[in-house]
Order: sequence, then C-alpha cells, then structure tokens
Amino acid sequence: MDKFIIEGGKSLHGDVYINGAKNSALPILAATLLTENEFTINNVPMLRDIYTMKDVLETLGVSISIENNIAYIDTRGAVGYEAPYELIKRMRASYYVLGPLLSRLGKARVSLPGGCAIGPRPVDLHIKGLEALGADVSIVHGYIEAYGDNLRGSHILLEGANGPSVGATINTMMASVYADGVTVIEGAAMEPEVVDVANFLNCCKADISGQGTRRIEIRGIKELSGCEYSIIPDRIEAGTFAVAAAITRGDVRIFSIEENHLDAVFSKLREAGVEITKEEKGVRVRMDGDIMPIDIETASYPGFPTDMQAQITSLLSLSKGVSVVREAVFEGRFMHVPELVRMGANLRAESDYVIIKGVPYLSGAPVMSSDLRGSAALVLAGLAAQGTTDVSRIYHIDRGYETIEERLQSLGGEIWRLKE
Ligand code: EPZ
Repeated sequence: MDKFIIEGGKSLHGDVYINGAKNSALPILAATLLTENEFTINNVPMLRDIYTMKDVLETLGVSISIENNIAYIDTRGAVGYEAPYELIKRMRASYYVLGPLLSRLGKARVSLPGGCAIGPRPVDLHIKGLEALGADVSIVHGYIEAYGDNLRGSHILLEGANGPSVGATINTMMASVYADGVTVIEGAAMEPEVVDVANFLNCCKADISGQGTRRIEIRGIKELSGCEYSIIPDRIEAGTFAVAAAITRGDVRIFSIEENHLDAVFSKLREAGVEITKEEKGVRVRMDGDIMPIDIETASYPGFPTDMQAQITSLLSLSKGVSVVREAVFEGRFMHVPELVRMGANLRAESDYVIIKGVPYLSGAPVMSSDLRGSAALVLAGLAAQGTTDVSRIYHIDRGYETIEERLQSLGGEIWRLKE
C-alpha cells in the first residue's frame, strides 16, 4: 500500500485548478442506466471511486471509456440488473444503480453497501423512497432486492433523523423519472450535487423542478434521451485546497470553482482569520495572521459540509484558542482525531463534538488514514507540521482527490508518494 512522505513547514504559493465533483459524477454515471443511449460526460474526475463505478457499469453490460476527464458511455444492450458484493463493498455509492435499474428494468439486485468507515451507513431512506413509488423491496442474503414494473408517482417525505439524505434523494429521483404521474420529494437534500444530477436528467429530457430546494417535483415521462453534459466543480476539493493554503500560511489562487457552493466553508474560514478574495473565475486564499478559534456544526447544504469537518479540524489545531466542532451528520466521523493527536494536536472527542485547544505547532509523525476526508486532514497537518510526516493507506485519499501530491508539489508542497 502506498504512502505519502511530507516535509512540513513550506508555505504553498501558486494556482490550482479544481476538478469535477466526485459526488456528482458517481450518480450521473449510474443515471445513464435509465435509458439505452449514448452519453458524453465532461469534467469527470479521474479517481478510484470513478473507476469502481466504471467496473460496476461494465458488469451490468454498459460500454464505458474514460479518457482525459471525459466519459464516453453506451448503455445500448445493457440488460444486467445485479450489482455484486465484491464491487459494492469497495464503494457505498455503487448503490446509485438501484434507482435506475428498478426504473428501467422493473428489477434490481444490489448488495448492501460498504464504503468509508464513517459510522453506520443505513439505506432505510433509499428503501422508503422506492417503496413509496410502489416497488417491493426486501433485503435477502445481504442484497437489496427491488421489484416493480409500473412505478407510480407519490408524495414522499424523505428526511431522516439526521436530516436530509443526499443518496436517498438522488436514488428516489432517478427511480421516479418514468413513474406514472407526479412524484414530490419533501425533505429533499439541497446539495449542489443533487442539483447537478437533476440537471443531467433534464438534459436527457426528464421533467424535474425544485432541485436545490427541500421540495423536488418529478413528472413521469416515457423515455429519456442520451446527452452531453459537464459535471460541476468539486466544492470539497476546493475547500480542501483553501485549507491547505491557510494551514501553510500561503497564498494560493483556486480556479474553476462555483464560489456560491462554498459560502459556508469560506464564511467559516474568514471567521478563522483566513483572507479570501475574488479572482476572475476563482478565489485567492491567503493567511499571514493568527488562526482564530471558531465553533462549527456540520449540517446538510447550505450548512457547513461534513466532508470539510476533518480538514478544518487540522487548521483549528493551530489556532490561538479553543474551538468546538460538532459533527451533526455522521456518527463517528472522528477517525482522524487520534492521528492528529499523535502529531501534537490537543483534541478531545466527546460524543458528537471535538474540543480543539490550539497549539503553537504540530510535529511530523507516522500516521494512518482510515477514511477519505480524514486522510486529507492528515496530509494538511503534515504540510504544516515541523519535520517529516508519513501518511499510510493513502488509497483512501486516492478515492476522492486526483493526483493530489502532484498538485500540492506544484504549489511548493514537499510531498512524495512512496509505492510499497
Ligand atoms: C453523500 O453520502 C456523500 N457521498 C458523502 O460524501 C457526504 O458526506 C454525504 O452525502 C453528506 O453530504 C456521495 O455523494 C457518494 P447521506 P450519503 O445519505 O448519500 C443518514 C465523501 O467524503 N441516512 O446524505 O451516503 C446517514 O447515516 C463522502 O465524499 C439514513 O439515516 O449521505 C447520515 O447520518 C463521505 N438513512 C445522514 O443520513 C439512509 O437511508 C446523511 O447521509 C441514508 C442516510
């Protein structure tokens, strides 16, 4: 398993360009299963998870090639309806084939998901959405089995105890595009990635409105077309590079972003003393004063994203005071905390929050990744730490960040990949 070696203490300077959003690309690739057609999807990030989804689609009979961030997809003749455990266990988002397969073929057999080690990851809301459309859904021998030939539009409340579900909103939306009549999803997730999937479906002639609000309406149609579509920029990758600039007290311009997707992230970074100013098609992020302590509570969009919680925890570890960060979306998303403590951070995780007492510096140490965003947090801490950090099991970070070490090197970061 590869690892990163990082020599900390170098400020990052220069320009970085953000890739397409992983959490849009994954469901949009799966959504092509809704119709037997050809598609060209631009701005696809070249990530491990994308290649896993490619494998899943090929198992279902889809022909797909991805070159230079463009996916060429032909679903004609794709009649498979089973997504096997050995693929699903690699990535939770493989469950995005559930809605499209059920909607087009009237059946789907998808293994229960695996994915990141961030707490229990239920699928009850996905099942609730499909059942509301009239599907028979059961869990048999670790597989979700869904059957239903004539799905019908329904009025569905999809919010769970931990708020709206991105995955369940997207799966239910995809399952409803051919349902008879109108489907209304109340308590829908508002994430930009949900909007991107809805816009992709409308590009394929679906009839969806309300995306980006808590109430999405889908009017059933007979058949989708193929289309050419471009994925939105990855707001979490952009936020991660903004923290990289701040934690190394650098000066970095970040291009190819949708700035309004980062309102909550930039607002909290500014509160922590980070200088963020507008540039043509991007922002400039500078840090030369003290990092100020702040309190954060993660929430569904437009709140502060849970996918930025670990990264900002690394930054606040070096603040001039005490911060409290509450993780209100996922249970147990604190796997990075003990590893940051090994680097000298003063952190105490209690139930769903972590108390962060800022320290004057972090010191390099051998640390281990356990999940995608937690590993990004360890890399950020290593870039700021005194001395050498080695981050093991970086296959986690390769799931969500394309060539991260080359891009950090181009900004002056001293980071190398060691193939083991
Ligand atoms: C998506 O996961 C993202 N993954 C996650 O990003 C992101 O953290 C999450 O949304 C929240 O924004 C992809 O898009 C591939 P949820 P998802 O359903 O859809 C509970 C990353 O780092 N819930 O919005 O799985 C759930 O336990 C990844 O890129 C149910 O109770 O998240 C959580 O507490 C990590 N029942 C809350 O809802 C369900 O059926 C939000 O989860 C489904 C979810």
